[in-house]
Amino acid sequence: MAKQNWTAADVPDLSGKRIVVTGANSGIGYEACKVFAAQGAEVIMACRNPQKAATALAALNSAVPDANVTVMDLDLASQASVQAFADAFNATYESLDVLVNNAGIMMVPYGQTEDGYERQLGTNHLGHFALTGLLLDALKAAPESRVVNISSGAHQMGNMDFDNLMYAAGKDYTPLRAYGRSKLANLLFTYELQKRFEAHNINCQALAAHPGGSNTNLGNHLADGIIGKIMMPIMRLMMQGADMGALPTLRAAVDPDAVGRDYFGPSGIMEMTGYPKKTSSNSASHNADHQRQLWEVSEQLTGVKYL
Ligand SMILES: NC(=O)c1ccc[n+]([C@@H]2O[C@H](COP(=O)([O-])OP(=O)(O)OC[C@H]3O[C@@H](n4cnc5c(N)ncnc54)[C@H](OP(=O)(O)O)[C@@H]3O)[C@@H](O)[C@H]2O)c1
Repeated sequence: MAKQNWTAADVPDLSGKRIVVTGANSGIGYEACKVFAAQGAEVIMACRNPQKAATALAALNSAVPDANVTVMDLDLASQASVQAFADAFNATYESLDVLVNNAGIMMVPYGQTEDGYERQLGTNHLGHFALTGLLLDALKAAPESRVVNISSGAHQMGNMDFDNLMYAAGKDYTPLRAYGRSKLANLLFTYELQKRFEAHNINCQALAAHPGGSNTNLGNHLADGIIGKIMMPIMRLMMQGADMGALPTLRAAVDPDAVGRDYFGPSGIMEMTGYPKKTSSNSASHNADHQRQLWEVSEQLTGVKYL
């Protein structure tokens, strides 16, 4: 009988594979690292807060006693930090099998990164765009590599306004709209990256995933205020655990049957919970002009030009 559900038990042996996960100290990223490590991968947890990272590393080592896991500093809201991470990585390692661009912030008030980018687009997309480019040689040095970008059902709330990409001075900004834009950008980036890998005959694949509704730290800052106090506990009851939420990420990263452009999400009602299936993203994410435009503006803004 055909197997129904893809689970962590389907993750193949990952001995000899090197995997970088951003935002690895918490939630989906942490759960994914645990499974990667348990299957024998060498895992690099790329984290912005050294104390939180040390706590997560200790927990992971205790959960997977023979884990081969290292922590490296990475703050995606700082181009200098992204460059420093890439420099340190490239000086230490020759190749990278999987890059999981997982770190994210959600629905935060208007603000700017160190480099003056709107915070959600800057962290969730531009930081990862630059990181991917700076690690490209390492990805090319692996026999078959993958880049996995973590999006969200909220990409459907986003639009690309290239005349005011950063909600300059907070104009037209709402926390949800800006989060949606950053998550739409994750998908536009995935599809353009895959196009460029193919155009350059590079043996690397770009895929995407989303975790549905998963109980993590992502919405903790929304808990203040009357709505958060009432809504958050109810919403958390409807969510799945971070271990289930990590399955679409794991599938995109290691399922031998997955290919470039695949997008995985939970299979349950409204893709909020459940085992991972191949899913589709909205038509805005397939706008080829916006894919190219976002790529070009991301190169200009970050100064990282590739492919
Ligand atoms: N949970 C859900 O229901 C859900 C739904 C759709 C999409 N997602 C996506 O899933 C991904 C993982 O989120 P999660 O739910 O696991 O949330 P989480 O538990 O809050 O984890 C997010 C991770 O990103 C890190 N991070 C935030 N800003 C960073 C920066 N500037 N530089 C480096 N790392 C940074 C966080 O570090 P700190 O611990 O230091 O803050 C944390 O490790 C995100 O891309 C999110 O958009 C989640």
